[in-house]
Amino acid sequence: NAINNTTEGAYSLVVYADKIYISGNSNVGVFYGIQSLIQLLPTASATALSIPFVEIADAPRFAYRGMHLDVGRHFFDVEFVKRYIDFIALHKMNIFHWHLTEDQGWRIEIKKYPKLTQVGAYRNGTIIGNYPGTGNDNAKYGGYYTQKEIKEIVQYAANRHITIIPEIEMPGHSSAAIAAYPQLSCFPAEATARAKRTTWSGDSTGKQVQQAWGVFDDVFCPSEYTFHFLEDVLNEVMELFPSKYIHIGGDECPKANWKRSEFCQKLIKEKDLKDEHGLQSYFIQRIEKYLNAKGRQIIGWDEILEGGLAPNATVMSWRGEGGGIAAAKQKHQVIMTPGDWCYFDHNQTKNKDSITIGGYTSVAKVYSYEPQSSKLSPEEAKYVIGAQGNVWTEYMQYTTKVEFMIFPRISALSEVLWSKKDDRNWDDFQGRLKEQFKRYDLWKVHYNPIYIEQSDSK
Ligand code: ACM
Repeated sequence: NAINNTTEGAYSLVVYADKIYISGNSNVGVFYGIQSLIQLLPTASATALSIPFVEIADAPRFAYRGMHLDVGRHFFDVEFVKRYIDFIALHKMNIFHWHLTEDQGWRIEIKKYPKLTQVGAYRNGTIIGNYPGTGNDNAKYGGYYTQKEIKEIVQYAANRHITIIPEIEMPGHSSAAIAAYPQLSCFPAEATARAKRTTWSGDSTGKQVQQAWGVFDDVFCPSEYTFHFLEDVLNEVMELFPSKYIHIGGDECPKANWKRSEFCQKLIKEKDLKDEHGLQSYFIQRIEKYLNAKGRQIIGWDEILEGGLAPNATVMSWRGEGGGIAAAKQKHQVIMTPGDWCYFDHNQTKNKDSITIGGYTSVAKVYSYEPQSSKLSPEEAKYVIGAQGNVWTEYMQYTTKVEFMIFPRISALSEVLWSKKDDRNWDDFQGRLKEQFKRYDLWKVHYNPIYIEQSDSK
């Protein structure tokens, strides 16, 4: 009986002729039982409301069932963020990874550093079309969430048994913060370098919020100024987000500026570090120590393995599964988000159906995903606590596009995270997906109905 299952969220749902009985091993379980009941409601309008007789005993396979949203490249308002949280809840997932800071925009109000949003939340234009773009739209773009709005969203998620894990990127992807506070850079007097072959809009002097996509050399300098700044920012973040985990990024931090910075080279010697990767490790470990002292744990992208893992860090594996496998072998918790299966910014169809970042991740491919790699022993595999769909929004300007990219892949991922490995059946899922599409219609979501052609790639 699922009720005795120790995984939080186990429930049973029984439909009798005259009553419906839902029980759970916690409030969360009852909540999931209700979500399943919603899935049993008819999709066609009918005069009589009928629900099939069922007896369900169910429990999630993984404790971490996440969806991510990048609000840095494009900003989505409070109303859509709530709708996104509803989608997560309807799929019985329990984590919303909110990617709040980027090169192209800082999206969270920080009272102690008002310029982060006054300056960092806006860019003077955006490239048009796929990188490097056919030009620049020359339109000021941006937005941010006030602390009041964030509190409201955190509560909205909590009411749906969803934890929000905020991500504050460091040391890379920090152009917007540097535009607001140039002293965060190793070279405060240098103008922001724009991405190659792209077109710029407006002022190009001094530090600027980026207008094109990519990875940029101007990253946080590991100075005392920067650490104090980040500690202040994280203090306000911790006030807003009760989550045990804080995501500190750590991915795609070029080392070019640290290599040519006298300050960094001196620090490497002083701290007896091997090289710039050692310096990144020092950076992350110092932040981990700060957050651990406040009772929080860090999650970082798999680059945090380079130069040595921070002692208590959870690793989010995105450049394939290799980082996650290495971390699990080091007895660190792992969340799997490998590009080939979990990047919902990739195309869903072989023939590109819209402007995307590239890649090909069909719904069949998502459905085929096994988070606990066969390269891990059963003991090591226990460190893989779940998986997540990542939604990077360079090429998702509108909420309708976000929906088109997540549906139906979110439904496939949900089943990966709930079902026993042997219970998954693609043909069966495809049949049920047809019914699910009718629910999408009722939710008025924009989804990609083309998935059959991908069955060859399962
Ligand atoms: C990432 O996709 N840069 C984590």
